[in-house]
Amino acid sequence: MRVDIFTLFPDLVRGYLSGSLIGRASASGRLDIRVHDLRSAATDPRRSVDDAPFGGGPGMVLAPGPVFGAVEAADPPRPLYLLGPGGRRLDQALVRELAGLRPGFSLLCGRYEGVDQRVADHLVDGELSIGDYVLAGGELAALVVVEAVARLEPGVMGNEASAWDESFADGLLEYPQYTRPGDFRGWAVPEVLRSGDHGRIRRWRRAQALIRTLERRPDLMRARGGLSPDEVQILEEHGYSGEAHSPLQE
Ligand code: ADE
Repeated sequence: MRVDIFTLFPDLVRGYLSGSLIGRASASGRLDIRVHDLRSAATDPRRSVDDAPFGGGPGMVLAPGPVFGAVEAADPPRPLYLLGPGGRRLDQALVRELAGLRPGFSLLCGRYEGVDQRVADHLVDGELSIGDYVLAGGELAALVVVEAVARLEPGVMGNEASAWDESFADGLLEYPQYTRPGDFRGWAVPEVLRSGDHGRIRRWRRAQALIRTLERRPDLMRARGGLSPDEVQILEEHGYSGEAHSPLQE
């Protein structure tokens, strides 16, 4: 899979990627990530990429020339997404969509107070946001997108389709995990996890994921259509009733 990233801070983006597992996947050829410097297409002697906004107002706007120039020179895989707080909000469903694109997709990091609207209107295919807050630029957002997508690529993280992915795909939060020691400062690992009874463990984990989601993210629970009759039964088996004190409320 190929992902092209257009940025004014190529060293920053490359630095993160090379220090992470994604860099290793890139080196091994599983992922082809290409980072492009928007400044490379600036034509004036000062290699400027921004200018004052027409109509006045504070700040500078990323000019269309260098952006169109850099993208056209690279001929990157489409769709090309502009990163900015006004875009479609990233979630795991969108991450899966992106992971399914072949040969890949591309990301354009916005900067400063804005990007010339002609970039959005005539160059990119869509806009992506990583959440309802404003960053100084799209670089961190691009890295978030790339990491979330890359870890779904077979072989990138070393372990495929973790239980967490399966659980999240189902619209639930992850169940709690424990490792050794079995007793840490008097806090014991739940007995069921040490029972060796895999059916019981599966049901306990399912109950925990359901309880967590009900209590922490009722919006996710509503979005997945609530509880199935089977799930109601699993919760009852584990002694959970909506009003009762839950094992998750410390
Ligand atoms: N650039 C600035 N803020 C952003 C956000 N929330 N998501 C993506 N890119 C951004």
